[in-house]
Amino acid sequence: MIDVESLKEKLIARVHASEAPAEVAKAPEFRELYAQIPSLPPEDRGDFGKRVNELKKAVDDAIGQRKAELATVALPTIDVTAPFDVNSSEPLLLPASQGTLHPLTQEIERVSAIFNRMGFVTEQSREIDDQFHMFETLNFPKGHPARDDYDTFMTVETDQDGDPLIAPAHTSTMQNRVLKKYQGNLAQGEAIAVVVPDRTFRNEDLDARHEHTFYQVEGVYVAKGVHAGMLVATLQKFLEEYYGRSLNVRVNPFYFPFTEPSFEFALECPFCEDGCSVCSHSKWIELLGCGMIHPNVLAAAGIDSDEFTGFAFGCGIDRLVMMKHNIEDIRHLESAKLNFLRQF
Ligand code: PHE
Repeated sequence: MIDVESLKEKLIARVHASEAPAEVAKAPEFRELYAQIPSLPPEDRGDFGKRVNELKKAVDDAIGQRKAELATVALPTIDVTAPFDVNSSEPLLLPASQGTLHPLTQEIERVSAIFNRMGFVTEQSREIDDQFHMFETLNFPKGHPARDDYDTFMTVETDQDGDPLIAPAHTSTMQNRVLKKYQGNLAQGEAIAVVVPDRTFRNEDLDARHEHTFYQVEGVYVAKGVHAGMLVATLQKFLEEYYGRSLNVRVNPFYFPFTEPSFEFALECPFCEDGCSVCSHSKWIELLGCGMIHPNVLAAAGIDSDEFTGFAFGCGIDRLVMMKHNIEDIRHLESAKLNFLRQF
């Protein structure tokens, strides 16, 4: 025989301890109570039924109370942005002393510092630009076929000319701005000498050598009597300083709308004597595009090309960094993986 009173106490205690109190209303003990009824003398059955109903009501009331109580319990706050497993009792935060600059940031600073010592000032690029700077000022008029070479990301929004905005596909988008900004140097008999190391974007098919987001360093140098020999010497000096050894360089003719003549610049592989995996066993590494600034580009910035000439270059920084640290896949650089980053 189950005693109704002691069962009541037991079930109510169970409700108070439960995280899902409604479950107690389905306790198997109720079925056992009902199963007892046929064995009771008929005159006791009414009273028994009444007590079972009271028991049910008491349990239901306790369930209501417990539910209200659970609803107001303050949950521990969780920082969903925390860089650790929020379920672990003692979060292992990364000690600040273990943090380092991203390898690209480190190298951008080194590249910039080398050019600064050579007399160039550093400017930043931007992450959204217009077709005027990406193409028009660089001597790619509307409809110019070379516009298609740049796999340019475009926005849905348009500028005042109705053209989509773009994520700069090269740092050359800054040429017109820096030429205008430092034009005053020329009047004072000084050169315009600017580097722009910054982020660029192209809608590339991604693989170990192609990433949609990458870095270039643009160089612009304008003064009286600037010639291609100065371009080659500047780049050679920069690369020798960067790799810490003397290096042979090679220039081949190339085409860019914004330089004339244009060159593709290669350097002797800094890592081998007679061929290795970095240079694909060719001993030469094609590194960057460069050339003498086209008169139309100078004119677009209000500079008289009869009086002044200049050179420009655009060098991929990821490639420099990959070669330096023997990184086999460019996609590591934007992966944000700590295993990778902690090596630098
Ligand atoms: N902007 C060119 C590119 O990304 C490189 C370049 C820069 C060439 C400056 C000439 C002068 O392909």
